[in-house]
Amino acid sequence: MRQSTNQFQKPVTTKVNSDGNIEIGGCDLVKLANEFSTPLYVLDEATLRGICNDYKEAFSAYPKTHIMYASKALCTKAVAKIVSDEGLGFDTVSGGEIYTVYKAGVDMSKVLFNGNNKSFDELSHAIGLGVGRISVDNFFELALLNEIAKMYKTKANILLRITPGIECHTHEYIQTGHLDSKFGFDMTQIDEAVELILTEYKNINLHGLHAHIGSQIFETDIYADEIEILAKEIARLDEKFGLKLNEINIGGGLGVKYTDSDTPPSTYEIADIIIKKLNEVIEKYNIEPPEVFLEPGRSIISTCGVTLYTVGSSKQVPNGKKYVAVDGGMADNPRPSLYQAEYYAEVANKKETNEVENITLAGRFCESGDILINSIELPKLEEGDIICVYNTGAYNYSMASNYNRVQKPAMVLVNDSQADIIVKRESLNDLVSHDVIPDRLENDR
Ligand SMILES: Cc1ncc(COP(=O)(O)O)c(C=O)c1O
Repeated sequence: MRQSTNQFQKPVTTKVNSDGNIEIGGCDLVKLANEFSTPLYVLDEATLRGICNDYKEAFSAYPKTHIMYASKALCTKAVAKIVSDEGLGFDTVSGGEIYTVYKAGVDMSKVLFNGNNKSFDELSHAIGLGVGRISVDNFFELALLNEIAKMYKTKANILLRITPGIECHTHEYIQTGHLDSKFGFDMTQIDEAVELILTEYKNINLHGLHAHIGSQIFETDIYADEIEILAKEIARLDEKFGLKLNEINIGGGLGVKYTDSDTPPSTYEIADIIIKKLNEVIEKYNIEPPEVFLEPGRSIISTCGVTLYTVGSSKQVPNGKKYVAVDGGMADNPRPSLYQAEYYAEVANKKETNEVENITLAGRFCESGDILINSIELPKLEEGDIICVYNTGAYNYSMASNYNRVQKPAMVLVNDSQADIIVKRESLNDLVSHDVIPDRLENDR
């Protein structure tokens, strides 16, 4: 089976240059660290475009496929611009993500709005900007959206998000398709929702069904199981209500290779399984070939990104571990402390060194759990060395915080030996810019 770009552990342009340093997108990582300071998120444009192309090619045999990049994985204006130029749509989950893709010039009809507790303001914003589809999660939202659409004298175009009762083998915090989940309508609630739409909610247009099983998934059959459930449900709703639904959204979730033990399937393999299953259910349930939406996030952006850190202090515990601390950690990458996520790293300036040691790569934040990598063999480290942690494109910057009042890092886009800032580093002033001292508390600084 053909390999896809998201199966690699490193960006496709990663190599060691003549100075013995690692480079990505033709840019020496040590020079990037010097020029832009660390921690620094680095995003490789060639990898991003390559992965978008893999998705388009892999699904070309089923032209009714729509790839909607799940922008929760990483949402900046430059990323939205590139992904949109590659022809993909967007899955968004907040007013902030919708506004970001809007400001990046994205065609709003190719945007889908998801989430289990969308606010009145967010839904109004989505309707006002002409967001293409809203995936409705619950009865409360259905009623609210009908009211908002009525106010706008329009109809809201929706999918119903359902929980298909499929469990995948990933961390429990990133499973979403099992029955006891906070997301979506239970299968037993679908008929009631449909009846409300058909009888009371005149400002709602129902187009289809949506499900999302979880994230960092390596199992391939799970998507076939999901399509079976969605197609069967579409056929049943037609039979019971005479309702012709022609859209299914199977969510995201495809995994990536963080460490050597991760073996994500190829996008081409997944596409094959999905298309075969679609053809099978179209015949089995005698339904019109549906428009099919996918919402990959991690598998599009993770491999494109690395994070650079500078080595600072270290501590050898007598007869124990050696901790080496870098200038970032859980505030720029909360995944290791949140889900015990594992990463792979190299030293950007020491590719040629033979002397290696086993260390624990620690962050700089005031939590014992702030460990980026528990155990890794790296060339013997010294203060000032530049560490490159791979596969940090997804759910790093998008989950970053200002914990300990530390500024969020900058992000640079690299391509053809050029590096451009796409997110500026926060300043100390940015950190206090939203703080207010009431007049009565007097302050002379
Ligand atoms: C509804 C929905 N779609 C898509 C995604 C993206 O998943 P992934 O980044 O694993 O592809 C998520 C992630 O949680 C999600 O909740």
